[in-house]
Amino acid sequence: MSFPQHRPRRLRSTPALRRMVAEYRVHPSELILPAFIREGLTEPSPILSMPGVVQHTTDSLRRAAAEAVQRGVGGIMLFGIPEHRDATGSAGIDPDGVLNRAIADVRAEVGDALVVMSDVCLDEFTDHGHCGVLAEDGSVDNDETLALYAQMAVAQANAGAHVLGPSGMMDGQVAVIRQALDEAGHRDTVVLAYAAKYASAFYGPFREAVDSQLTGDRRTYQMDAANRREAILEVELDIEEGADMVMVKPAMSYLDILADVAAMSPVPVAAYQISGEYAMIEAAAANGWIDRRRAIEESVLGIKRAGAQMILTYWASELALWLDESH
Ligand code: PBG
Repeated sequence: MSFPQHRPRRLRSTPALRRMVAEYRVHPSELILPAFIREGLTEPSPILSMPGVVQHTTDSLRRAAAEAVQRGVGGIMLFGIPEHRDATGSAGIDPDGVLNRAIADVRAEVGDALVVMSDVCLDEFTDHGHCGVLAEDGSVDNDETLALYAQMAVAQANAGAHVLGPSGMMDGQVAVIRQALDEAGHRDTVVLAYAAKYASAFYGPFREAVDSQLTGDRRTYQMDAANRREAILEVELDIEEGADMVMVKPAMSYLDILADVAAMSPVPVAAYQISGEYAMIEAAAANGWIDRRRAIEESVLGIKRAGAQMILTYWASELALWLDESH
């Protein structure tokens, strides 16, 4: 008998063999494109730390949404940047606020051909940049914030969002939002809970993207990177409170968390490949240090393999095009 007896390399010998035995593949319908709209813009405005990503005008956002539909992308997650901010983020609740109008515009553009999602969080709308309102002592007041999330959720559902993504990490936020939606007659509006969302340095470029007013950090409400077991508690609580889907965020530095959650969650699991993950790959590729397309494909496949059924990625439309070419 010749040595070696086992030759796993056999199944890697041609592209067709590799394709046939591939355990995981990404499909465009699982991709969700995060997109930013900024009030008062006349031209799309580039985000310097996220080359290729812009703050949209209404028109350019509609075009991006139409392109996503055409490429078979699953959904779009909308973030709004208002012209005026205040202590309670009232522009986020105003039916005429930038995000609520954008939801209606995108729905008018795509109908039901794309799942239209929106961020339920106050940080883009507050003049202090925190995800909730502040108490006298400057801390983020959990329970005062919940009432505002409830109003914001109803406003977004009224505007036509199919899915709401509460991302503020306030305790009890899913329950309050679910109840408010039901009372307002929005029984079919889906809640995608940012269940295990960690305080991360990799959100850096997003701060530029939404012109964040934050000084300091979000460590009193977002999870500590040191904790793994706690992610299960957060997911269990959100499901108990009525979450239809759960998310792990960021993706790359938290693939163990994603695998844990995928193993226990009875509801669909999403992961968010965030701004810093995008920026690192773009920056390295721009320097010629890595192969851009291969790095993008590998990074997203890794998130899929770790257990995400849905992946939010700023490359959603471009990746969908490549996936289409490859079969
Ligand atoms: C909060 C929110 C953030 C992101 C999505 N929703 C910022 C934060 O929590 O600090 C980050 C997304 C990214 O970095 O791509 N509204």
